Amino acid sequence: MADFCITDARTLDGRSVDVVIRDGVVARVADAGEADPAAFDADQRFDADGRLVTPSLTEIHTHLDASLTAGLHRWNESGTVVESREIWDEMRDSLTKAGIKERARKTVDWFVANGVTRIRTHVGVANPTAVEALVELREELADLVDVQLVAFVYDFVGDDESEALLRDAIDRGADVVGGMPHGEPTRERGVEHVETVVDLADRNDLPLDLHIDETDDPNSRYTEVLAAEAMDRGIGDRTNASHATAMHSYSDQYADDLCRLLANSGVSVVTNPPVNAVLQGRFDGYPRRRGLTRVDELLDHGVTVGVGQDDVVDTAYAYGDGDPLDALAVLMRFAHMNGREDVARLWSLLVDGNAAIYGLDESSYGLREGAEGSVVVYDAPDGYNAFRRRAPRSLVLKDGVPVARTERTTTVGVGDDDHVVDFDCRFE
Ligand code: FE2
Repeated sequence: MADFCITDARTLDGRSVDVVIRDGVVARVADAGEADPAAFDADQRFDADGRLVTPSLTEIHTHLDASLTAGLHRWNESGTVVESREIWDEMRDSLTKAGIKERARKTVDWFVANGVTRIRTHVGVANPTAVEALVELREELADLVDVQLVAFVYDFVGDDESEALLRDAIDRGADVVGGMPHGEPTRERGVEHVETVVDLADRNDLPLDLHIDETDDPNSRYTEVLAAEAMDRGIGDRTNASHATAMHSYSDQYADDLCRLLANSGVSVVTNPPVNAVLQGRFDGYPRRRGLTRVDELLDHGVTVGVGQDDVVDTAYAYGDGDPLDALAVLMRFAHMNGREDVARLWSLLVDGNAAIYGLDESSYGLREGAEGSVVVYDAPDGYNAFRRRAPRSLVLKDGVPVARTERTTTVGVGDDDHVVDFDCRFE
């Protein structure tokens, strides 16, 4: 735990502040100029010089066991989820613990460099080696990043071996119980899948996060089962539905009913725009559906929504660089969130939505006294510019300790005309 002082930073709502961290916790957020940086050692202070500061970011949905496997066995030439599953099944048993850890560690570096100090990663329990690798990595990297492991299976109802692996992963330290009911062969087995994982989570007092209704089929309706089950057991506030892309194709009336059910149950939704932008709509000619869940309608109903990167350079998606602002940029375009007021809404999804789904409450998270001293300074004057150009993260702190720094300067011009480029746009 460490002390640190950031001076002259600007918050998302435009305040100029000094942020004082003592023993890894935010001790004070004062008006700029009120803190005393001279009371800190030179390596424990940072002059933000008017740049944006936010709480550190949360990557709420990724797959560290699969990261950087694109092309490792063979390339996904069709770019479809079907071919991705085929490649994964061919390759899975040849993956070594050392290889998984090495690729995951590199991916974690990318996330941290982009301001992330919390990662929720799903891990398929059909590969116990992957579970073991990520359990070890979670402990080894504890000073750099907090990791939550979501144990899940593609299908397991009636399969004693898969269910035993899921229970084993929980025993070995999985933080969250996952699932994927739309992978089951029948509706009835999908419902049973949801009921089984909800029961497992409830009995082990763990949160839930399911891949659910990640399809364009409007008949895929497991989110309603998850929300109803969670509501009956009173665990909606620690239950999340990831993807829910079928909602894009539901009738407006059913979608409205589902939004109300989610709001009443307290169940949150995570959208993963970069990956679903390429995986959905694969059975469409034209017009071709966008395939994201209904973020605007969910928000209008008061549902907590988060945004994730999902796959990073793996068999399903060969792109991504661990920057949550990339996922946010795709969402802005695909969800028509390009109005001026949408800038704050987008940041709220990324900052507040993801933290809430991760399980943080307002006393432990945010730029406020008593919250964890994990913050990011961006090389941009405000949220609009930082988001528009995915500005470098000048400084990333975890619990008051610097864990990443980036400096980037671009010059343009010939000879004496050489000058530093200002990429920011100021409208005030
Ligand atoms: Fe996923």
